[in-house]
Amino acid sequence: MSNEMAVQEAEPKYGPALADSNIYWHAGKVTPAHRRQYFRHEPATIWLTGLSGAGKSTLAYELEHLLLEQGHPSFVLDGDNVRHHLNRDLGFSADDRRENIRRTAEVARLMNEAGLFVVTAFISPLRADREVAREIIGPERFVEAHVSTSMKVCEARDPKGLYARARAGEIPNFTGVSAPYEPPERPDVEVDTGRMSLEQATRALYDHLARRLG
Ligand code: ADX
Repeated sequence: MSNEMAVQEAEPKYGPALADSNIYWHAGKVTPAHRRQYFRHEPATIWLTGLSGAGKSTLAYELEHLLLEQGHPSFVLDGDNVRHHLNRDLGFSADDRRENIRRTAEVARLMNEAGLFVVTAFISPLRADREVAREIIGPERFVEAHVSTSMKVCEARDPKGLYARARAGEIPNFTGVSAPYEPPERPDVEVDTGRMSLEQATRALYDHLARRLG
């Protein structure tokens, strides 16, 4: 093995939670360069943010499919799905949403490290929480995509009937109704599924990744 392949991922900036925990970092043999050569791309996390009903999940699965079809292994982390297992203990308070985003970002980071493209579909309503995700994943791998479909369109679609229930006071802290949504100020890419077809929006996201695809 060449020296170039002697170090795997960089040791994280932060250490184990307990200073005296006797936990040490193990460096592997496969380097990021080796993985790049294998997958023929530079992995990234496309972080979709937008209101419930904006089309994030649909777009994420469409983009995952397109990437895979083009030979680029990818994986979707979807808010509703991740809340079925890893994050099943979390609700919708500001603290729980922050933890939801933090854990998801850590999983996305690992998947990127493994060489995969990751597409996340979480409302992720707060800028500060998305900044934490950017920090965890690494700014060079974090692509912020605003699914900017308007509240009016999302509420008219109401695919799960949640807006109606939130308006009736049956769902507390519902984003856009009784909890805030802070749109990105300078997203890397923006798509509005109220104005674009699914194909157009997926293509816009895919094209944004073009320079990473070898
Ligand atoms: S996030 O705010 O923590 O990023 P996440 O994307 O994981 O949210 O989950 C959002 C999904 O949970 C929505 O699509 C909706 O189906 C459901 N949901 C249940 N309660 C709420 C709520 N109070 N606010 C927003 N979405 C909710």
